[in-house]
Amino acid sequence: MCGIVAYIGPKDATPFLLEGLARLEYRGYDSAGVAVAGRTGGIKVRKVKGRVADLAAAVPARFKGSTGIGHTRWATHGVPSDANAHPHLDNAERIAVVHNGIIENADELRAKLAADGAVFRSETDTEVLGHLIAAHAAEGVELEEAVRAALGKVVGTYGIAVLDAEQPDRIVVARNGSPIVLGIGEKEMFVASDVSALVRYTRQVVHLEDGELATVRADGFRTFTEDARTTHRQPSTVDWEIDSYDTGGYEHFLLKEIHEQPGSVERTLGGRLDERFATAHLGGLNLDARELREIRRVKILGCGSAYYAGEMGAQLIEELARIPAHSEPASEFRYRNPVIEADTLYIAVSQSGETYDTLAAVQEVKRKGGRVLGVVNTVGSAIARECDGGIYLHAGPEISVASTKAFTSTVVAFALIALHFGRIHDLSPADGRRIVSALKALPDQIREVLAQSDAIAELAAEYAHSEGMMFIGRVRGYPVAREGAQKLKEISYVHAEAYPASELKHGPLALISPELPTVALVPDDELLDKNLTTLGEIKARSGRVLAVAHRRPEAKLADHCILVPKSEPELDPLLLNIPLQLLAYHAAVALGRDVDKPRNLAKSVTVE
Ligand code: F6R
Repeated sequence: MCGIVAYIGPKDATPFLLEGLARLEYRGYDSAGVAVAGRTGGIKVRKVKGRVADLAAAVPARFKGSTGIGHTRWATHGVPSDANAHPHLDNAERIAVVHNGIIENADELRAKLAADGAVFRSETDTEVLGHLIAAHAAEGVELEEAVRAALGKVVGTYGIAVLDAEQPDRIVVARNGSPIVLGIGEKEMFVASDVSALVRYTRQVVHLEDGELATVRADGFRTFTEDARTTHRQPSTVDWEIDSYDTGGYEHFLLKEIHEQPGSVERTLGGRLDERFATAHLGGLNLDARELREIRRVKILGCGSAYYAGEMGAQLIEELARIPAHSEPASEFRYRNPVIEADTLYIAVSQSGETYDTLAAVQEVKRKGGRVLGVVNTVGSAIARECDGGIYLHAGPEISVASTKAFTSTVVAFALIALHFGRIHDLSPADGRRIVSALKALPDQIREVLAQSDAIAELAAEYAHSEGMMFIGRVRGYPVAREGAQKLKEISYVHAEAYPASELKHGPLALISPELPTVALVPDDELLDKNLTTLGEIKARSGRVLAVAHRRPEAKLADHCILVPKSEPELDPLLLNIPLQLLAYHAAVALGRDVDKPRNLAKSVTVE
């Protein structure tokens, strides 16, 4: 949700700012801007409504400075426009600010600042920061002091970078609920809201904590708290590969990420399977077997696809460990004064580790004394740090807005958790071995599904122009249907409904017509006959059916079929989901959509 970059050093800042913003564009892409200070005095600003490419075209060759900040925006306060794009300046054009997050008391601050003579040029909450910092930046006051004093008056969440025309030898950054990462170079320093903008330049990074600020100069940085106490932060090394941030010959990041799944699943499993005891090793849970035996319930919290992955996880935990488990949208949980039980284990799921609703849900559980584990992709992220323990997915960076490889790795992580819990409870060694070998077989089975991409593209072209689509699945298949519908909606904008197959006749069957085809998940399991009966009911109402199955249903029951390899029944959902990713991708391409940056969405929803 919005991206921040900044540079200070001997080089010209603009090329890094523009390239860094292009790398962060997946986080927000309705407007973008840069500001530089340095060589010729004063601050120069360019900002435009549109993409980073539009900004790059609007930046003249003479736009140079050795210190600079930049921003790519996803509008929350005020429509996307040149005026609302960041950076925002004070009236004297001395201070420039870029900001991610939301200033909750912006209206109140705006009224006070306006009464003191500030003239506002945008509708954003961020602009108040520029005026507020300028109001504290009197003669002789260090920029960090002015920023600290201004932030003392602010209620809300922020990641900010501040540039001062009068002190161009530094940038001041601050974090409260919205990430800021410092990148350490050779006599130069970088800042970004996400390491993906930095990896080309440095692997040595420092993640600021909430409530922390930093003064960044070309030759280093100093971190401190809001009450001016110095903090001591050791850099960490980013281990994600640089080529994760390129499309690597694929037409889109999404297609690349779908195709990366055999490797990302291998990484999630890496070193965690224990063949001898037919279980999984999960050292990061920070829970021993005795503590695990005391858990009576599992509650999984996540948003969007992370919530659906949690539904699959709950199913796995119930089946393998026989512990009641349930997944709930973190965005709902946090607002309903949830009952937190001592013998319930809470598990937060997040690819980015930054989703504000999920973070707030974790904080609510912890505030009430509950124990929370994280299933998170981004190492060192806010949610990972807030949890008592957990599992990193190691899926690698996910750039496309729609989640695919992180989704699959999350479900694999839940399979490991379920296996581990199961083997501490009553899952037999034979059943443990059955799951271990099925998990090991997954990467090759995913490859088999991916090999059908062209055939799925043909089907997608045929179905993409429907007025909508129904996705159905029973029990284990229902979360697959929900995720399949979500993916299609998100990137192709085709309306999609997901229903339990068992519920069809209780209402939605009325919708069935040749214009509303059904994608039906038909695994070869104990519910196969029930699913085939449902297909018969749809066909009897002239519905079209695209089955995703282990065995091709009779022609009278399905118009088309995508075959997937069979796993163990508990793990089948993982493989049934892969063709739905490809279906959504190819439907979006057939409809000419902006696959990696769908309208109205952004990766990492770091606001409420
Ligand atoms: C769907 C999608 C979103 C995210 C959700 C949670 O494709 O990407 O629904 O899954 O916003 O994001 P994370 O996992 O980063 O917390």
